[in-house]
Amino acid sequence: MYKIPFNRADIGKNDIELLGESISAGHISGNGPFTKRAEEQITKILGNDRTLLTTSCTHALEMSALLLRLKPGDEVIVPAFTFVSTASAFMLYGAKPVFVDVRQDTLNIDVDQAEAAITPRTRAICVVHYGGVGCEMERLVKLAQDHNLILIEDNAHGLFAKYRGKYLGTFGALATQSFHETKNITCGEGGALVINDASLAERAEILREKGTDRTKFLRGQVDKYTWVDTGSSWVISDLLAAILFGQLCRADDIYTQRMKIWNRYHTELKTWASKHNVALPTVPDGCEHTGHVYHLRFQRGDQRDKFIDHLKQLGIYAVFHYQPLHLSTVGRSLGGRDGQFPVTESAGDCLVRLPLFNALTDDEQTHVIESVKVFDPSN
Ligand SMILES: Cc1ncc(COP(=O)(O)O)c(C=O)c1O
Repeated sequence: MYKIPFNRADIGKNDIELLGESISAGHISGNGPFTKRAEEQITKILGNDRTLLTTSCTHALEMSALLLRLKPGDEVIVPAFTFVSTASAFMLYGAKPVFVDVRQDTLNIDVDQAEAAITPRTRAICVVHYGGVGCEMERLVKLAQDHNLILIEDNAHGLFAKYRGKYLGTFGALATQSFHETKNITCGEGGALVINDASLAERAEILREKGTDRTKFLRGQVDKYTWVDTGSSWVISDLLAAILFGQLCRADDIYTQRMKIWNRYHTELKTWASKHNVALPTVPDGCEHTGHVYHLRFQRGDQRDKFIDHLKQLGIYAVFHYQPLHLSTVGRSLGGRDGQFPVTESAGDCLVRLPLFNALTDDEQTHVIESVKVFDPSN
């Protein structure tokens, strides 16, 4: 039905060869050689203490909650404009997500509102770098320090992006990554916990391995492994880690291609957008993003819906993004109400994402751009 999909995963020849290598070597369960290589590759680039691959970003967030010993009565401040997991992972361990609105320009957490939401029960702030465009990290780091809170970065969109020269995912005590099919670097389903506080690393390894010290055993540090703590099964199959390692090895090419597509949208849609009062993404000074999301924001929701339909008629699949969490069934049960977070609510109604994937050809992108430009939201 769609000539141009929203996303198409780019699993290359190199990734498939590594997958074959993993199968031939026979170690296809978790915590194997490719897991180690992928983890080391990420840590080599980010310069953080330790990276642990996980089955998803959601699971890395859940690990964070367990690692930080969050419990009923604790509160975690999160943006209302994000994926469900940024909030549900903490709730799984009894903590209450406290929503705040996002900034109008970047759709990242509004730091003033985060500060105003701090109570004696607040334990952590979990921020999201929407589209891989960094939040105001200096302010957030200071806020967390001043109030003795743990800072977590849900960096699902922002692997290898930078804020003022420093990698996203290296500011908080913990950060989480996603390697889901739609992400820049993917292995289908996967994630990582990026650890920046070395004191958390040993217990994180245990939690990921069902509460056992198996990782120590694999390193030869103990002669048998045993049950030492709580935990779950959050190790990724080495088959997926092999694909991921392949992707990480060609990260430069992947990012160059995505940025090329992102920049072309940005340049060629400028005139049309300003004529029709459509907002394009904002990248503040000091942010080097990842070209993960290209979005447009219309003035009204009905214009956005008509636009999605218009592109559909022309064979292009464009999609909306997060629905406001405070207005979800669970969000309302926590006290969320209409009109509470206007920027989030407007982004939920009015934002649309254009197709953006490595294999999008120049001709396909020309078709998308031309199709956008003939749309007049006032009709
Ligand atoms: C900000 C954010 N956090 C977490 C997730 C969940 O990632 P995963 O599918 O790897 O669990 C997503 C998914 O797209 C996301 O956008």
